[in-house]
Amino acid sequence: MSLSDTAIEISSLKFGWKKHHPILSINELNIQRNARTFLKGESGSGKSTLLGLIAGILTPDSGYLKVFDLEVSSLSSAKRDQFRSEHMGIIFQMFNLLPFLSIEENVSLPCRFSKVRKSNCHKNHGSVEAEAKELLNKLGLDPKLFWERKVSDLSVGQQQRVAAARALIGSPSIIIADEPTSALDTKNRNSFIELLSQSASTSETTLLFVSHDETLASEFDFTIDIDNINLATEGLNQ
Ligand SMILES: Nc1ncnc2c1ncn2[C@@H]1O[C@H](COP(=O)(O)OP(=O)(O)OP(=O)(O)O)[C@@H](O)[C@H]1O
Ligand SMILES: [Mg+2]
Repeated sequence: MSLSDTAIEISSLKFGWKKHHPILSINELNIQRNARTFLKGESGSGKSTLLGLIAGILTPDSGYLKVFDLEVSSLSSAKRDQFRSEHMGIIFQMFNLLPFLSIEENVSLPCRFSKVRKSNCHKNHGSVEAEAKELLNKLGLDPKLFWERKVSDLSVGQQQRVAAARALIGSPSIIIADEPTSALDTKNRNSFIELLSQSASTSETTLLFVSHDETLASEFDFTIDIDNINLATEGLNQ
């Protein structure tokens, strides 16, 4: 894989929640650009932690981590936030929706922080609102019924779909999805995977998807088992 094909490049990375207890130690990991990668591993194996590092929410203790050839960990925290809102759509395992905002406000939020994503919405659907409605529709949340409702009034599966729409809005270059289908029934799970695949194939999108559900692996171009790349095992489950 040449560098230009690589969206995320990790080398000699170490990270520990506690000093001297690395829970991640990765010699080398390359995630291919414009491809769909499935990341699997047991509960507690460090998947969400790795995603946090890639997203620049956490910073490595040593080694380097590049996203689109930029060493994210060397940026200031404000620059990392900016980089993340511009380039990454993230579905967090705990959703991280803003409970007192409406669905419309939650889904549109990334476009308030990123001009690129806002202008992608205008280019592809005419406005941020139109793209938000289209995404919600495709995820089975009729905007006529849901648009103004508060997120705190929704079921867990509905909240997960709002988090998915928020990650996809404005066609970010990288979509990071941490167990995004854990609360969905089969029908909604399938529509979501289809929508993700569509977004990933119509625009230049790198998708990194974490799940326990190994039956989903066949939908992806590559599968990585974190246990095969993580050399740190002593710090885990402590
Ligand atoms: N905020 C935190 N502070 C301290 N330790 C943490 C924190 N978050 C995770 N850990 C520890 O780091 C290890 C990896 O956790 P992580 O959440 O990355 O696992 P995971 O693979 O995503 O698990 P799951 O499949 O259950 O979501 C675990 O041992 C966990 O206890
Ligand atoms: Mg996790």
